[in-house]
Amino acid sequence: MITINSTLISGAGAIPALAPVLAGRQRVLLLSDANIIKLEETQQIVALLRNEGRDVYIIDSVPAEPSQHDVANIVRELPDRTIDIVVGIGGGSVLDVAKLLSVLCAPESKSLEALLAGEKPTHRVTSLLIPTTAGTGSEATPNAILAIPEQSTKVGIISPVLLPDYVALLPELTTSMPAHIASSTGIDALCHLLECYTSTVANPVSDNVALTGLYKLLRNIDVAVSEPHNLNARLEMLWASYYGGAAIAHAGTHLVHALSYPLGGKYHLPHGVANAILLAPCMKVVRPHAVEKFARVWDLIPGADTALSDDEKSHALVAYLADLVKRLNLPDNLETMGVPRSDISSLSDAALNVKRLMNNAPCTVSHDEVQGIYHTLFPKN
Ligand SMILES: NC(=O)c1ccc[n+]([C@@H]2O[C@H](COP(=O)([O-])OP(=O)(O)OC[C@H]3O[C@@H](n4cnc5c(N)ncnc54)[C@H](O)[C@@H]3O)[C@@H](O)[C@H]2O)c1
Ligand SMILES: [Fe+2]
Repeated sequence: MITINSTLISGAGAIPALAPVLAGRQRVLLLSDANIIKLEETQQIVALLRNEGRDVYIIDSVPAEPSQHDVANIVRELPDRTIDIVVGIGGGSVLDVAKLLSVLCAPESKSLEALLAGEKPTHRVTSLLIPTTAGTGSEATPNAILAIPEQSTKVGIISPVLLPDYVALLPELTTSMPAHIASSTGIDALCHLLECYTSTVANPVSDNVALTGLYKLLRNIDVAVSEPHNLNARLEMLWASYYGGAAIAHAGTHLVHALSYPLGGKYHLPHGVANAILLAPCMKVVRPHAVEKFARVWDLIPGADTALSDDEKSHALVAYLADLVKRLNLPDNLETMGVPRSDISSLSDAALNVKRLMNNAPCTVSHDEVQGIYHTLFPKN
């Protein structure tokens, strides 16, 4: 279990509360992306960063689903690594890169190659993370995920040193998310919470964290997507996502994420979209091994029939998840996403190789069973 020591700032209208975090820090490195940097709220934060004559170096080109090469390029282009605070404003892609930069800018830091080879970071520069999607919960996890195109998959660099000093959950920063991104990233958070809740490494703390996040998410995901300017729903989704990240820090994801990594690594499917396609088919396989926990999650759904037996509730939850993905208009098959059916076997090899996550699953799955899951993601002939 990992202790999360970040100081949290949250709420609508809380941007000015960032000022004290910046006090006395002269050299600022801001990471963001081309969509986020244009937002009015981001510009308000940039103005705050520039106050008091601070030097602010901005990198606003972090790509979605970043690879090791993207991070290496950013490090190479940095004119100076003497930084007092690293600020990340963006989705999981930006936040993961900001976390890595907070480590790579620390004096006597290990190189990115060394970190990828499994060496552990020891220090970081002070960091502030501001998520603009409500999904990855990266601001609460010790993970930074990078695509490794040569191996057609993703890897995680994992260390508590990556956890940020400050996190700001500011709902105004998420209102500009297009509906398809709000839906897919929201489903990513749901996967974190459900997978951690049902993982073999779950414990009473992670269960508590996961159930609180699930309570918030199941009550807010529909309204947050349909009413982007509903700041209360957007803040609740930010919290659900944060709890999902904290659940990862205390436990770990499994089947959905293991099967999703090759889809992101090889076909560049957006992380939340790949997870959304996999959610119900994977949870159908997990269900017999987690009937009671599925039933507890069912009980959190507003309006759910709580008089059902646990077995009935567990089946009803799987059906609810499939229906949720459908009503959020997320894709439900891989063929339309450019994945050929002939790759099912190699995708299954790659998924089974994500042992770090597969080991957390409450059931062991064979190569045939993983192939079976991928098969259901293609239209029936
Ligand atoms: N560190 C972790 O624990 C962890 C957990 C899960 C996923 N991840 C990683 O996070 C990445 C995915 O992050 P993500 O799902 O948040 O998406 P993302 O950061 O890749 O962003 C997706 C797209 O949405 C846009 N966007 C984001 N916020 C927006 C806003 N408010 N308004 C308008 N556009 C906006 C971005 O510009 C981008 O084009 C993947 O690389 C994944 O592997 C990390
Ligand atoms: Fe995820």
